[in-house]
Amino acid sequence: MSQGLATLLRVGTQKSHSAAESTDFIKCFLKGVVDKSSYSKLVGNLYFVYKAIEAEFEVHKNDPVLSKLYYRELWREKSLELDMLFYFGSNWRETVKPTPACEKYLARIREISANDPVLLVAHAYTRYMGDLSGGQILKKIAKEAMGLQEGDGTAFYEFDDIRNAGEFKKGYREALDTLPVDAATAERIVEEANDSFHMNMAMFRELEGNWFLALTKFGWNSLVTKIKGEPKANSARRESKAAS
Ligand code: HEM
Repeated sequence: MSQGLATLLRVGTQKSHSAAESTDFIKCFLKGVVDKSSYSKLVGNLYFVYKAIEAEFEVHKNDPVLSKLYYRELWREKSLELDMLFYFGSNWRETVKPTPACEKYLARIREISANDPVLLVAHAYTRYMGDLSGGQILKKIAKEAMGLQEGDGTAFYEFDDIRNAGEFKKGYREALDTLPVDAATAERIVEEANDSFHMNMAMFRELEGNWFLALTKFGWNSLVTKIKGEPKANSARRESKAAS
């Protein structure tokens, strides 16, 4: 391969990354418009997604390719269990189910694990590299928007066994570059990674109904503030006019 798999993945998913960043859900999130009910739904779905990815990596941990990306320090299932408890209470295992888009994502992970496990590389790349890239900023936004105390509902963003995310990503990229896969397989992994981005976007879209409501509320609140602020501004203008 003229380019390593890490570069092929980064370049080959750039469009999907931009598309994911431009979904209304993510745009709202970045603006700090986060309501607990939608955010907890996302946490619920992510719990099932990571649980599936990690279970399938466990199945294939001696596979010549997947063993090279078997980093338990990345695993999110346990931290998401803490977040599930925070958002849904102690009987979350009985009450929380994956949404339809999440079900499709899970079915795909299980299907490739059974028939074409090398493609699991794509799913690990899309989620873990993304988490290591934006985690701390997203945690800050979530905390501020929902008024969470430190340690409440944001365990997902904490990688206790990774001191330096940048260094870790470097090592991960090196591991990707040295995977024993041929060019045709690398191409299929990039294709699967794009599909994985789209499966994430499908889950975001399911939440957009709620987020639009939140955005409308946000727009309404800022309108109210503006209106409430206006008489003061007007009277200040009137006063300065009278003084001049
Ligand atoms: C909230 C919106 C997002 C922002 C602001 C964001 C931002 C970033 C940034 C700045 C990087 C580059 C980090 C670096 O060069 O080391 C990055 C990388 C990455 N992000 Fe995102 N991202 C967002 C959403 C997502 C989503 C939704 C996914 C997938 C589900 C994702 C997956 C990735 C991946 C796989 C990488 C690694 C690219 C590579 O170097 O190969 N991101 N992101």
